[in-house]
Amino acid sequence: MKRRDFINWVGLGLLASSLPVAIAACSQQTATPEAKSTGDGGWQKVGSVAELDKSGQLLAKDSPVGAVLVIGKSQAANLIAVNPNCTHKGCPVTWNEAGKKFTCPCHDSEFATDGKVLKGPADKPLKTYAAKIEGDSVVVKS
Ligand code: FES
Repeated sequence: MKRRDFINWVGLGLLASSLPVAIAACSQQTATPEAKSTGDGGWQKVGSVAELDKSGQLLAKDSPVGAVLVIGKSQAANLIAVNPNCTHKGCPVTWNEAGKKFTCPCHDSEFATDGKVLKGPADKPLKTYAAKIEGDSVVVKS
């Protein structure tokens, strides 16, 4: 084998062996919320029962599903869970226990427990989540 042929074969071999590495490096790998799932039909942990029971509210700003405000106690039959960002201009809403509604401190919009607008200027409902207790965790699902 001539020296030039040998070098060509070695070069081709190196190129072929590095191809899988180059393909893997170029493929897109992003973590989806599903990747962090609890494995139970899309339920995502947003906090602990102890945190929720302390005040009857649990705010998870950076949960796998985004910002979530859970209202209730672990013994309650149905927990309320919403995205607390007001649909008007994004201020965080607060829970009004006496009125059983969410109120926005910025421009006084009000939202029902199912997220519906009770009073503007907001004209879109808050996003809601199903919520439940799973062991000592509070989990939500879109
Ligand atoms: S940001 Fe909530 S009412 Fe304007």
